[in-house]
Formats: sequence, structure tokens, C-alpha cells
Amino acid sequence: MSQETLSNLLHERRRFEPPAGLASRANVTADAYAEAERDPLAFWEKAAERLSWDTRWERVLDWDDAPFAKWFVGGRLNAAYNCVDRHVEAGRGDKVAYHWVGEPPGDTRDITYAELKDEVCRAANALVELGVKTGDRVAIYMPMIPETVIAMLACARIGAPHTVVFGGFSSQALVDRIHDCDARVVITADGGYRRGAPSALKPAVDAALRHCPDVRSVLVAKRTGQDVDWTEGRDVWWDDLVGRQSTEHTPEAFDAEHPLYVMYTSGTTGRPKGILHTTGGYLVGTSWTHWAVFDLKADEDVFWTAADIGWVTGHSYIVYGPLANGATSVMYEGTPDTPHKGRWWEIIQEQKVTILYCAPTAIRTFMKWGTDIPATFDLSSLRLIGSVGEPINPEAYIWYREAIGGGRCPVVDTWWQTETGQIMISPLPGVTAGKPGSAMKALPGVSALVVDEEGEPVGPGSGGYLVLTDPWPAMLRTIWGDDERYRETYWSRFPGRYFAGDGAKLDEDGDVWLLGRVDDVMNVAGHRLSTTEIESALVSHPKVAEAAVVGANDPETGQAVNAFVILRESAGDGGPDVVKELRDHVAKEIGPIAKPRAIMVVPELPKTRSGKIMRRLLRDVAEHREVGDVTTLADSSVMDLIKEKEGQAPAED
Ligand code: WTA
Repeated sequence: MSQETLSNLLHERRRFEPPAGLASRANVTADAYAEAERDPLAFWEKAAERLSWDTRWERVLDWDDAPFAKWFVGGRLNAAYNCVDRHVEAGRGDKVAYHWVGEPPGDTRDITYAELKDEVCRAANALVELGVKTGDRVAIYMPMIPETVIAMLACARIGAPHTVVFGGFSSQALVDRIHDCDARVVITADGGYRRGAPSALKPAVDAALRHCPDVRSVLVAKRTGQDVDWTEGRDVWWDDLVGRQSTEHTPEAFDAEHPLYVMYTSGTTGRPKGILHTTGGYLVGTSWTHWAVFDLKADEDVFWTAADIGWVTGHSYIVYGPLANGATSVMYEGTPDTPHKGRWWEIIQEQKVTILYCAPTAIRTFMKWGTDIPATFDLSSLRLIGSVGEPINPEAYIWYREAIGGGRCPVVDTWWQTETGQIMISPLPGVTAGKPGSAMKALPGVSALVVDEEGEPVGPGSGGYLVLTDPWPAMLRTIWGDDERYRETYWSRFPGRYFAGDGAKLDEDGDVWLLGRVDDVMNVAGHRLSTTEIESALVSHPKVAEAAVVGANDPETGQAVNAFVILRESAGDGGPDVVKELRDHVAKEIGPIAKPRAIMVVPELPKTRSGKIMRRLLRDVAEHREVGDVTTLADSSVMDLIKEKEGQAPAED
């Protein structure tokens, strides 16, 4: 597509109606909005009937003890049974659950629902043999391999909440999460393939467990065959233990509110928060939205969420939603540019993917690589494409729609969060038009508002804060072990309403445009990072006296981490070596994704008279523009010193 076509499209067609062919046989029609508005609980009750329950609920929602919700009160079900067994029992055992694609070309594996059932039963029996009981937490630190899904479902099957830690996180991050939820068993792998080479995982687990004496067992899947250190009595190979188990395991039905998993995510304060999701509501919310937003036809579609299972997108739309719906999914281990920059398009061509779901940061990267690359592959199988994780800028939306979707696939821009568990704001592809840059409107059964400082709803054409006014099935239930922090973080800014932490505006039609975080959470390449968490990592280094971190606009990753540090006197004046040392230190403390793009050593930080760092001014520096109003600074000459330094800052890499 030429620049000219792109800019014509941007200016001429700002609204895309649902394609007629899709609309005429869409899973959900326009009636759903009215139906849900009349009686939201009856609406979600109907969605719950799509699942298999051992005991039906007595009450759809108990909100008496708000903000602590109970959904499908008294209902009992097993998540793994719903995701796997029931499809086999319905005669769909031969249907492929996953086309797994390894990073090395040709390394693929298809797993049917029947095979998945056997593997999950074996793994559940193995966990029982390791002494895991209902309610015990299990940490999972894995690459993108089938065993990761099997491990999650095995945990769900025996009612042991899992906490999946993204494989790109550091061993320190693993330690923090294991401690916070007191996991006693860790499931990992020797390594995985990343950028064309085996990359190790087990050493990070070994390092972490030196600080976690309560972890008694480590189950290790073999993926790369690389050498690993072994702790006798603690470590056990997946193939040895799981391989010899029976494929029979009777699933127990758990209370709808039984914890399903804890997922850690960055908040505005230092420590990551353990977001708790429970069984019934989460499965209802993820399966219904997966079916409605992607218009899933289980017998026809090949669905691909190109995300890592270590994030909520992977939990809800690689694992629980698609499996509960009996869908066929693609699961890809590697990066988009290995062994070549057309890898995703090759996978779509080979696996005949019909629905693709990915993050704007990936789309912008592909845009940079050029339209010629996808153009050499056959992408005609695609019928719907989705976006998640950050605001999608109109240019990227149009490019995605044209260069990948061939101009015929609707784009669903889906807004949601680790905390919401399920998609909340998104077009319904057979009903709602799409506008480049807008997530359009709250799904049926979801009630979102944009409010001003005082909590008053704003009208069309105005902006403010995004809030959710009513509980929804897949909502977080609390922060693991910290009910007060849950109440304080989400329900106190606007009493009685869920504060999402995002800015938003309504256009003249009343459609929602997300504007990014309004708090100290950054969004880097679709990953949530907290400024305070990175600042804490920096000041934990002996050479650093003080640190301030800001997210600066970045054309590719949305935002990039920029740090400003004051060194201790003993550290000298901070040449490139110190900067490298500090960047590596952040990678070690949190993970490579948190590594600052640039670190500037400064003599002072801009502070107000009350000592608050004015990040706005630092953002001006990081984004290379004139610094804004400095009149509220305690010492306004500080910014001159920083600007002076800017000229000498070491090159970014
Ligand atoms: C941002 C990812 C704009 C938002 C599922 C939110 C988005 C945070 C969108 C949650 C979107 C997610 N448009 N912004 N379609 N989707 N966000 O917890 O700032 O990793 O608060 O969940 O990502 O990130 P999280």
C-alpha cells in the first residue's frame, strides 16, 4: 500500500460497517445489547448455560459485600472438564485443540482434544503424587510449549490455583511471586527456543529457589535437551513422572468461587499485585466474549492469539476461552522474525488461520518492516482480526486492516485488563461498526462510563477517566492476600465504581477512545510496567542514590522506559559503563522487558516544594521537546542542569 493510499484511507473512511456475509450469520446480534440492558444478570445467566455445571447456581450474583463479588453462587463445576473432557464426551475428541508451532521451522505438533484430555489427566495424577492438594498454589515458569497448557489445566483439574510467571521475567521476579502466594511446587522446562537458539529457563529457577526453601518439588519438562543442574529429591523430569501416570482422572467439581489462578501485574506502587480469578465467573466471561467478539465458529475457525501464555491475554484467549468453546487454536513458541520476518504470515498460510489476535506493537513493527513481506503470503484464510494491549493508532489500524486483513476483515479493537479477565469494550463484529482508533462500546452485560474528576459522566466529545459501574463475571475477586489494597486500588477513587486507571474520551457518537494510563503504569510493547517498580530496582543498586522513571512515546513500542538517576558520590560521574551496568541490573531484577531504553545520569531531579518528582518535565526531556512550566518546582534551575546533560547523554540502544 502506498503512503498516498494510506493517507486517503485515513481521511476518507473513518467508519467500517460489518461485512454483510459476517453480519448475516454472526453469533451475536444487535438484540444482545437491549437484552443485557433489560436484565444483565439474566444475560450472564444465559452465558453461563453454555458451560457444563455439576450443580447449578442458586443465585447469579451476590454483591451484598461489595466490592467483593460472588458469581453463580452455589454453582459447582470443574474448569478442566469444561475445557477438555466435555468436548471429548460430545464426540469431538479428534478435533485439534492446538496446532502447536515451534520456533525451529518444521517443528510442529497437533494435539487433539482426546490427546489433551489424556495428558491433562496424567499431569493431574502427577501433581497429586507430588502431594499437591486442592487449594495449594503451583508456580509455572515455562516457554510456549503444550506442556504449559497441560500444566495449567492439570492444576485447574485438582483445584490448585496456578500462578504463571512469564518466562521472560527474572529469577528475582520468580522469587517474589513464589513468596507472595506461597507456592510449594514449580513447573518449568530446561529451556525454549528463542530467536533461533535454545534459551535456558531452569538456571533461573535454580537461582530463585535458593531463596525459596519451602518449594519441595520442581517438575521439569524437556524442550531443548540442554544440560541442566539437578537437585536430587527436589527436581523430577516431566517425562519420568507424568509419563508413567494413568490417563484416567476423575475431575472434582469445585465451588464457582474456588480460586482458579493468580496473575501478577504491575500497579502504581512498588510490588506487583496478585490478581485473583475464580472458576465459574471467569470461565463464563472468557468463553462468552471469545465466542461473541471473535464470532467463533468452533467447527470452522482456526484461532490464533499471538501472545505469551505468561500474560492474561494468553490465559483468557489461548487457554480458557478457546478451550471452553472447543475451538482449534494455533500456539506459536517463537518470535515474529525467526527465521525470517514473514514467519507469522507463513504460519497463517500453513495453518489456514481465520482469526488473528495480537498487539498494536507487533502491528507497528510489521508496518516498519514493510507491506511487501506479508504480501508474499496467502492470507486469504483470515476473516477477522483483533487488537489488544494498548491503544491502536489509526495508522496501524488501517495498515492492519488493509495489509493483513485484505480490506475485508473487520478489526476488533478490544479493551480489557488483567483485572477484568475478559474483554470489556470492543465492537461486536457482526453488529458494531469499527472506527480506526476506537474500541467503540462496552459489550452487552458490561457497563462502562467516562467520568470527570468528580465522578460525573462526561458527554459526547469530552474526555475523562474510564470506570466500570457494575460487576461482571470474570472480574478479579481481590488482590491475593490483600483485600484492603484491592478496595483501595480499584474502588476508592470513585466510590462504588471500578477505576480502571485509563483515560478515555467519547466521540460525538458516544463511542469510546482509550487514551492510555492516567497513573504511573507504563505500557511498553503491550506489557504493563510500573515506574515505581523500575525506580526501586534502580535504587537497589549500590551506585544509585535516587531514580525517576518515565514512559516516553515511542513510535514502535507505544512507550519506552526512560530513567533519570542521581549517582552516589562513590560511583564517580557515570560514564557509559555505569549506564550499561544499571540497565543490566534492571533486567536482572525484573526482566529484560523492563530494561530502560535510556538512562540519563543527572545532578538533581525536578521536585515540587512538597518533594514530589515532576515526571511531566522528565517526559518532556525524554521526548526531546521544550520543557513545560517549571514554576512549581522547588528549584527551577534543576531543569537547566538536566537539559545541559541531555546534549551529552550516551547513545540509546
Ligand atoms: C491497556 C492486557 C487501549 C490499558 C489485556 C489497560 C488498552 C492495560 C487496550 C491493561 C486497548 C489494553 N486499547 N488500551 N484495546 N487493551 N489496554 O493488564 O491501559 O496487561 O489498562 O491487560 O492495557 O494491561 P494488561
